[in-house]
Amino acid sequence: MTTTDPDVEVGRDLLRFPPDFLWGAATASFQIEGATTADGRGPSIWDTFSATPGKVLGGDTGEPACDHYHRYASDVELMSSLGLAAYRFSVAWPRVQPTGAGAVEERGLDFYDRLVDSLLASGIRPLVTLYHWDLPQALEDAGGWRNRDTAYRFAEYATHVHTRLADRVSDWTTLNEPWCSAFLGYGNGIHAPGVVNPKEALEAAHHLLLGHGLAASALRESSPEDHKISLVLNFSQVWADAATPAHQEAVRKVDGLQNRVLLDPVVGRGYPADVLEDTAWLGDWQRVIRDGDLDVIAAPLDWLGVNYYAPARVAPAADDVVTEGPFAGLRGVELLPPRGALTGFGWEQNADAFAELLVRLSRDAGGLPLVVTENGSAFPDTVDEMGRVVDPERTRYLVDHVRAVHRAIADGADVRGYLAWSLLDNFEWAAGYSQRFGIVHVDYETQQRTIKESAATLSRIIRHNGLPS
Ligand code: NOJ
Repeated sequence: MTTTDPDVEVGRDLLRFPPDFLWGAATASFQIEGATTADGRGPSIWDTFSATPGKVLGGDTGEPACDHYHRYASDVELMSSLGLAAYRFSVAWPRVQPTGAGAVEERGLDFYDRLVDSLLASGIRPLVTLYHWDLPQALEDAGGWRNRDTAYRFAEYATHVHTRLADRVSDWTTLNEPWCSAFLGYGNGIHAPGVVNPKEALEAAHHLLLGHGLAASALRESSPEDHKISLVLNFSQVWADAATPAHQEAVRKVDGLQNRVLLDPVVGRGYPADVLEDTAWLGDWQRVIRDGDLDVIAAPLDWLGVNYYAPARVAPAADDVVTEGPFAGLRGVELLPPRGALTGFGWEQNADAFAELLVRLSRDAGGLPLVVTENGSAFPDTVDEMGRVVDPERTRYLVDHVRAVHRAIADGADVRGYLAWSLLDNFEWAAGYSQRFGIVHVDYETQQRTIKESAATLSRIIRHNGLPS
């Protein structure tokens, strides 16, 4: 195929995406908003955690982040100038209910109201995530996600936000990456609230899923039929160097605790038997699973959000070796270091694993359509003397991964959209502001935004609904 568009090299084939493929970018409340005490917002677990010495690199906190709370209007203009069709953002629970329960703080909801209106005025579709890790501290004081009651509080909060915005927002995600909330928040403690207790991580995982199911059903009941309800999970394809039974066993174990532990119950298969067995030595975490919970958790969804960054590499190890890190004390496996080209954060760049994952999920996710809700890479960008941010490595990562999505679709995966992580450089959790994932550079001193070359590339991809092969 040839084209007269100067942006596409004449004579090269264009890999086109399906006509209604959704292109955009994503962010999350705590990572960009700043204004952590404005308009009645209560403290979240990330405010507490980041104020605790030694928890976040450089002692960074949610201030100032990108001051998006005050700059949302110009940020929406930026999105519009890039041609984004969709913007995925999250609502901060402690803005809406400062203590996680009870009366609604209208001023907090007003902010999201203004944001949604300005997105719609620019023709950008808002995708709302109800929980992206900023749990009200008051709920954590009562046990957080280890406490079953938090699931019910979450469904209540979800209903408040929905009541306010559902006349204009039709895409609703309950939770972002509950795996991280559970296994990094309560398992190895590198995320808020910083608890190190693998058994409690599993209990928290169950309560997160319960909260998801309760909220999904509550939203469904009060939504028009064309509204879409979803969950966003993080996945890593797990690779080993050989196909021996021992290697396959190592893959099975990590895949179980990384990918299947949450996916299976959500799509109605219940917890995988092998994961229950692998984690039994940690104690009876399954006592938190009550009759009927699995039905709640399997609430019907319209699509599954897939966050992908890098694969996991594993090898077999002796049975008495307990895996370090977030895997709830998994035994008999070794997590291997990443290979080949790495991002600035030290993560493996591997688009083949992404294509493989999408094809696999279209088999394993109960027939749900998939939306890539996050994908991206961090590199230490700087603004050059010409005022540009040249980021060839991020651009290559983006192009390679968008191509992988195209390949997966050609191989039968039902992928409906791609949202880059992230619109803006932002607060990268335990790494603070040290890792820049944005397609737009943020100077945290001046709050100046600079469009990176990767953003210009995404913009071209969106304009053509495709990219050169
Ligand atoms: C996934 C999380 O949802 C997001 O908050 C985070 O910044 C990215 N991964 C990069 O680590």
